[in-house]
Amino acid sequence: MADTATQAGGEQLEEKLEGMLDIEKFEPPEDFHKHALLSDPSVFEEADRDWKGWWLKQAKELHWFKEPTESVDESNAPFYKWFNDGKINASYNCLDRHVEAGNGDRVAFHWRGEEGEERDITYAELLRDTQKLANALKELGIKKGDVVGIFLPMIPEVVVAMMACARIGAPHNVVFGGFSADSVKERMEFSEAKALITVDGQRRKGKTAPVKAKVDEVISGLDTLQHMIVVKSTNNDCEMKEGRDHWYHELLEKADDECPAEELDAEHPLYILYTSGSTAKPKGVVHTTGGYLTGIAATHRYVFDLKPEEDVYWCSADVGWVTGHSYIVYGPMLNGATSVMFEGAPDYPHKGIWWELCERYGVTLFYTAPTAIRACMKWGVEHVNKFDLSKLRLLGTVGEPINPKAWLWYHVVIGGERCPIVDTWWQTETGAIMITPLPGIVETKPGSATRPFPGIAADVVDERDGTPVADGQGLLVITRPWPSMLRTLYKEDERFVETYFDRFGKETYLVGDAARKDKDGYFWIIGRIDDVVNVSGHRMSTAEVESAIVSHRMVAEAAVIGQADEDSGQAICAFVTLEGDETEGSDDLIAEIREHVAGRIGKLARPKRIIWADDLPKTRSGKIMRRLLRDIAEGRAVGDVTTLRDPDVMQQLEGKIKEEHQSEQ
Ligand code: WT7
Repeated sequence: MADTATQAGGEQLEEKLEGMLDIEKFEPPEDFHKHALLSDPSVFEEADRDWKGWWLKQAKELHWFKEPTESVDESNAPFYKWFNDGKINASYNCLDRHVEAGNGDRVAFHWRGEEGEERDITYAELLRDTQKLANALKELGIKKGDVVGIFLPMIPEVVVAMMACARIGAPHNVVFGGFSADSVKERMEFSEAKALITVDGQRRKGKTAPVKAKVDEVISGLDTLQHMIVVKSTNNDCEMKEGRDHWYHELLEKADDECPAEELDAEHPLYILYTSGSTAKPKGVVHTTGGYLTGIAATHRYVFDLKPEEDVYWCSADVGWVTGHSYIVYGPMLNGATSVMFEGAPDYPHKGIWWELCERYGVTLFYTAPTAIRACMKWGVEHVNKFDLSKLRLLGTVGEPINPKAWLWYHVVIGGERCPIVDTWWQTETGAIMITPLPGIVETKPGSATRPFPGIAADVVDERDGTPVADGQGLLVITRPWPSMLRTLYKEDERFVETYFDRFGKETYLVGDAARKDKDGYFWIIGRIDDVVNVSGHRMSTAEVESAIVSHRMVAEAAVIGQADEDSGQAICAFVTLEGDETEGSDDLIAEIREHVAGRIGKLARPKRIIWADDLPKTRSGKIMRRLLRDIAEGRAVGDVTTLRDPDVMQQLEGKIKEEHQSEQ
């Protein structure tokens, strides 16, 4: 690699990447193709010909207490059932199976703390702690079917917590550690959680946030929540409420270490995960056991070409998102992988920490988000080049469309031009990766997630009548059921049908993304069509952010839009009208509103930009026209305003934006 652009200065690299923008396709590297688990393209036809049989075959790779004889039951569509007569347990598949096969000493996670602490946790150790915690939960009266909340940072206990719930059939409801206590409360309330597993404090870039104390402030009114289990992670002071609160380590000390895995129906709910939708109320996506595990195990194995004896895998997401559920916890553990789990941020203690860890643990498969790649590009190659990344053999991305420039940078600088990149499109609702290259077979095109995984059928259709669009933009749909699909929205069956299966019927799942298919049948994802903003690959509902802003005492009305942003893909931009006669707020008020939103939802939801508005553009029926706001915010010519109740509003707003631009200069 002596004189490659990666080692030369930034300018040469820039030139090289520019030159590569013309390359349309990248073939799977020859050596990779030769050794890949899947290297014969006939797998696509095989899966298509008999997709039900294909998935049943994948299901049988798992351990079943009772093997299923049937694939999908479509009799009550869109409430599909998968492998319905099978009996299975997720934690048995993730733990016992490997220990029984003699692999108990294999490291499941090389855990690395923010301050450099290290812990290697084996499958056998995880099984022991899981059984203890499962027994402790039972002692507290948690039964099969009871929901257990989990609000934990990236520490090994989060894996134990999920596994213990799965072991006894208590669906977990994990809340992302970056969300506020209010969000935790709301999610515990909606899911009627009986217990919450949380932590004394959470570290972030050298500081410690008091997690338990914050949760205490809001949670006391919740009658359904009977127990709180607290992991001692940072030695942060916290009050323990007699009878309700229990230290995790004390429970484990006392608990018996044998707890046989519950033999559960394939359709037993494994977890609920709240995600943002078009309205302010988050959607409780429900995943069940047999189908979910089938989809996750198969995609994790084949998309990442996982060879558990040789590979070291690292997904840099947080367990609180679906990526973490599927591709930090369940997928890798189902396949007996050795993974890296990192507590910290990508720039702490230094901007090369990810690459330092790749070198240290010999990471071979690395999975991250485009927004992180763009951040690394900005920080510069010098943070990368200090470390030896020669063990890497495959790279993945997820969360948002990746711009070709970032794809090429990832390919050249991180992948040393030898690693295939899998751009994986999927969602909380789909549970598993849906559109992706198979790295040993499919040629990649920078910016395209390529084609559906074997067994998956996707299309791009006309938004008016649902007919396939041959060439051009339309709505992305999935045209047959798949095992890891969501089963419903928790306690909202009607909303489930309405959101996903109303528009084009119960055979056609409406994704909520716009996309285009090219002449080779490759899919290019454009972005959300609903009122969801994708900030750094994280889903935020505009309605949820609006209602948080409006709950500030000085705000009368707010409209939130997603605005294109070169760092985070999209950024939150809020148009705000104040109470009373004030038409413009101070910088302090801007800061106050941003903090207010952070408190209500979480830091990610803070508006990057606030624009004061005397009034908002509304139709005669009072609907805010966000399309016009988007035009204005991004400095485009404003479209048709004739349907507005008061067309002057737009002129005022345009004036404001002009002032803003001037004052920025
Ligand atoms: C939305 C789902 C899947 C885990 C992370 C996000 C966008 C996701 C891609 C990709 C283009 C992508 C879509 C999707 N998205 N992956 N590879 N290319 N867009 O899960 O929070 O449920 O969000 O993220 O818009 O609908 P999520």
